[in-house]
Amino acid sequence: EETGKSGYDHYMLKEIHEQPRALRQCLQGRVDEFGGEVILDELSDLDPEAVQFVACGTSYHAALYGAQLFRSIGIPAQAFIASEYATSVPPIENDLVIGVTQSGETADTLSALREARHRGAKTLAVTNVVGSTAARECDEALYIRAGPEIGVAATKTFASQLITLSLLTLHLNGSEDDREVIAGLRDLPSNVQAILDDTNAREIAEEYHDSDAYFFIGRGLHHPVALEGALKFKEISYEHAEGFPAGELKHGPLALVTENTPVFAVVTGDGEQARKTIGNVKEVEARDAPVIAVTDGVSDVERYADHVLEIPESTPRTAALLANVQLQLVSYHAAALLGRPIDKPRNLAKSVTVE
Ligand code: AGP
Repeated sequence: EETGKSGYDHYMLKEIHEQPRALRQCLQGRVDEFGGEVILDELSDLDPEAVQFVACGTSYHAALYGAQLFRSIGIPAQAFIASEYATSVPPIENDLVIGVTQSGETADTLSALREARHRGAKTLAVTNVVGSTAARECDEALYIRAGPEIGVAATKTFASQLITLSLLTLHLNGSEDDREVIAGLRDLPSNVQAILDDTNAREIAEEYHDSDAYFFIGRGLHHPVALEGALKFKEISYEHAEGFPAGELKHGPLALVTENTPVFAVVTGDGEQARKTIGNVKEVEARDAPVIAVTDGVSDVERYADHVLEIPESTPRTAALLANVQLQLVSYHAAALLGRPIDKPRNLAKSVTVE
């Protein structure tokens, strides 16, 4: 078992550190040498009019991210929690239903995909496991190539899901304007490595691991990251954590914010979304909550934050993934300081095969 962990205390930490390699594997052979085109050989000619995503847990957060990317290339897209899919608007002809599932065996996701097929949709599995039920039952399969993940908490597979969904939209879009985005994807493994080599996540965890609750906020592509940051935190630390779209704070959750509830705010770039999230940061700062900004340092969010978790400057879609790495590390260290059984949290299974 120790050998399996390659010297790391837990599989989760090992898998967090495997992310640069996992991302390289995911990109390999899929981006042409001159960086202008994304080729996904395993897919047939997909030309969906609209996309519905079905997924659970962390994979649902990847689906939320994927849906935003599809909308950004003009394809209407929506993400559904798989167990709620039955109540959704049915897909119509030439709609694509994408099941995002690391294991390919999650019962809720399989059942939503079966329902989608029953309604006449084409289905695509975005999965890590070759030959999994999702891969076999769907019309098409796209592999995230993360390698085996042992820790119950999904880490490297989330990163690989995001980059795979990014590749999928680039493949379908095929525009000259994608060059910058593709360059951002190519830089991603080394940018993740830079975070792993020099992070203050442990110090943040040390300072705050005895708090009443933890909140995570972000907008746009950082909204799924906020949700994921909170899910990871609660799953392995057993502490109360919630993620919100930054703008929703003032519609209720702000009542919970006190000097003993750290707020992690993901803010990158200095555009409209950053400006608005900084507005939300000021709201929590005014309630004396400690603010930890996860930022590339482009905006002036640092002025309103107690601490900064730094990420390299990059494109918005890669910034989301980079910010998530810092949050994974904070969760890991908080859970380690609290003495939790990180790789096998109570009541949870790696793959949930019942509905
Ligand atoms: C994440 O840390 C959890 N282990 C869980 O939310 C998981 O992502 C979910 O059960 C879905 O699993 P899947 O990707 O294998 O379908």
